[in-house]
Amino acid sequence: MKNFIVVHGPNLNLLGEREPEVYGSLSLTDINTEIKKYADGFNFELKFFQSNSEGALIDFIHEQRKWAHGIIINPGAYTHYSYALRDAISSVSLPAVEVHLSDITKREEFRKHSVIEDICSWRILGLGFKGYLRAIQYFATQNYRQNFDIIFDENKNWDQVLKDVVSALKKQFPSYSWAGIYLVEGEELVIHNYIGKPTPHERIPIGQGICGAAVAERESIIIEDVNADPRYLACSIETKSEIVVPIYVGEKIVGEIDIDSDRPDNFNIIDKTLLEECAHKLSGFYPS
Ligand code: DQA
Repeated sequence: MKNFIVVHGPNLNLLGEREPEVYGSLSLTDINTEIKKYADGFNFELKFFQSNSEGALIDFIHEQRKWAHGIIINPGAYTHYSYALRDAISSVSLPAVEVHLSDITKREEFRKHSVIEDICSWRILGLGFKGYLRAIQYFATQNYRQNFDIIFDENKNWDQVLKDVVSALKKQFPSYSWAGIYLVEGEELVIHNYIGKPTPHERIPIGQGICGAAVAERESIIIEDVNADPRYLACSIETKSEIVVPIYVGEKIVGEIDIDSDRPDNFNIIDKTLLEECAHKLSGFYPS
């Protein structure tokens, strides 16, 4: 179980009423509910805090420093000038993710600068409330990376490591509805193992479907809406989005990681980075 604090700075208590064209129509309570729902899937425990006062924000960060494993913070206007808040974040030595509902780099001059940017591990701008979900996802992938050592134990063989990666990915990421690995055999991709609904596509000719396309194009592919992509080979009507990441051994593609989600537009750069890291680690186990 990992614990995180979600800290909202001044004026964010008025979300919903406050400039909805900039900050959206959800209230802070609605946003916190969405964050909690998303974090529950990762088994993360959260404490939420909002204040209009700099000192109260700093006190809260101090108080929670032993409980929390990380900070998700939207400091509101303090972002642009509060060195005291910046010092509070660095003093507690916890990884922090800076979130802004709006894209502060595209607004007034005074908003373009953040005094906390360089002490945060990640920063998410302009995605509205979904930025907070990204922050949770960032911590989930960090968590997953910490487990890499166990999955990629050097004593495992190729067969076992392929199974363990699929099962770890499926378990760790609740929005991954189907996870599997295909291996290249001649001109086909052949399923090695998967978790999720049975697939009718146990063999896919290279070049066909999104899986086949990723091998032919030699790169990872994210499909936001599978139904809008003519290459998609329908497996399950519930599937809405997909990511496919090739596994390289040197220049050669030996297989690929394929993940489907029942949520539309589920995959982003964070998934891609993590899965490419996974694919890279897997290649070290390829039997010579
Ligand atoms: C904000 C951007 C800040 O410039 C502003 O003062 C806020 C909200 C955002 O979430 O976009 O209060 O942090």
